Amino acid sequence: MEHTRIKELLKSEEFGKEVIIKGWVRTFRNNQFIAINDGSTINNIQAVIDFEHTPDELLKRITTGSALRVKGTLVASLGKGQRVEVKATEVSVIGDSDPEKFPLQPKKHSLEFLREIAHLRFRTGTFNAIFKVRNALSFAVHQFFNERDFVYMHTPIITGSDAEGAGEMFRVTTIDLNNIPRTEQGEIDFKEDFFGKSTNLTVSGQLEGELAALAFGNIYTFGPTFRAENSNTTRHLAEFWMIEPEMAFYELEDNMDLAEALLKYVIRYALEACPEEIEFLKNRLLEEEKSKPQQERSELNLIEKLNFVLEHDFERVTYTEAIHILKASKPNQKKQFKYLIEEWGADLQSEHERYLVEKHFKKPVILTDYPREIKSFYMKQNPVDTEGRQTVRAMDILFPGIGEMVGGSQREENLEKLLTRMDEVGIPAEEMDWFLDTRRFGSVPHSGFGVGFERLVLFTTGMTNIRDVIPFPRTPKNAEF
Ligand code: 4AD
Ligand code: MG
Repeated sequence: MEHTRIKELLKSEEFGKEVIIKGWVRTFRNNQFIAINDGSTINNIQAVIDFEHTPDELLKRITTGSALRVKGTLVASLGKGQRVEVKATEVSVIGDSDPEKFPLQPKKHSLEFLREIAHLRFRTGTFNAIFKVRNALSFAVHQFFNERDFVYMHTPIITGSDAEGAGEMFRVTTIDLNNIPRTEQGEIDFKEDFFGKSTNLTVSGQLEGELAALAFGNIYTFGPTFRAENSNTTRHLAEFWMIEPEMAFYELEDNMDLAEALLKYVIRYALEACPEEIEFLKNRLLEEEKSKPQQERSELNLIEKLNFVLEHDFERVTYTEAIHILKASKPNQKKQFKYLIEEWGADLQSEHERYLVEKHFKKPVILTDYPREIKSFYMKQNPVDTEGRQTVRAMDILFPGIGEMVGGSQREENLEKLLTRMDEVGIPAEEMDWFLDTRRFGSVPHSGFGVGFERLVLFTTGMTNIRDVIPFPRTPKNAEF
């Protein structure tokens, strides 16, 4: 490789050295100053050309978006805003970019506009920073588990079971939709389909993860998951990435400890690995919040907010305690909640979660022991309490500004109890035979949870729309690129 990455050059002290840079033009001012970015850093390097000795033909081709090779001398910069620059001796265009057609102009574009050109938004400072942080968080997840001797398990994307009940599923089929095979009863005949049965995209790797945990002890998955929920919100994607550890011999307390340690570890890693990017994102957020009324602005800036999470224990509260707090809360008393909390058993809406996290506790909260009726069939059942209430060993971790970041539980390891529950909620045991074998042969207490990776990236970058933290978002009515 003949060229040096701009990140290296910006740190270099080797003034007078001859260097070659390759990158894309961000701006070109006064026929003289070219700001070049090669993606290695959010910062550009300035190349200064001697326009009097540069042919007009070439000058015209140096446009925003074009790709250049610049050879020159690394010198201390006299201008403001940069320590070093390159005094160009040789400039050539590697790839032209028609300035009339290139959608990214050297000005501030709205996030909405950039979403429409998501295939080009990587070439902006904001998206460079976001995806560097996403990369760091992703690496940190693997490092965290690797340090703890967890096995990274690849669970299937295509599944034949639809028993998790986490959400609506996308069907996978090769059936000719113009010529659907039918059974004698007139139903779709999936025996004719590719797998000989009805199949879907996975909503979670958990059930397969449990099988692996009961052999390896500790495992995790980290892959894409799919939900065909028609939720057009700033927190939902139809395709998102989930981190799902599953641990044999872990009870709910151990599960909470691991989840809290994981979240703190990866956020700390991102702060250390991406200081410039996070500083940039902090300033972006401050700028964005200037247009909001004072009471809607955050009390803490992004870096303070991340450090706050690192420095404080998450609040651990049972669902029953949370209901007491919510019932007595001002917005409930004054009927400001859209869904009023009247009685125990109510499912918590995001307005309630946000009240608990943002107004009441003002830090991440782990809510545990939810009513059995509002949680998945596989969660471990607590003994019925003195008031006859049945809860399960569930845990949700709620984050300020995000709401639910993590969902998990201790699992029901008792075969009889699990079968009874499946029957109650209408899950056919025959379809789940493979899963039930974990409870038939050497069943043990075990636990796990799922972290919504994009929600983690949202929190760490201070972005507000989940469509901006995944390269190519899939949401209802949108699967561009
Ligand atoms: O709470 P969920 O549905 O839990 C499960 O899927 C369990 N099987 C996890 C486990 O115990 N192994 O999803 C887990 C997390 C949520 O807390 C949320 O952060 C994220 O996944 N999530 C979504 N993120 C983006 N878009 C969506 N549509 C999401 N649905 C869930
Ligand atoms: Mg959940």
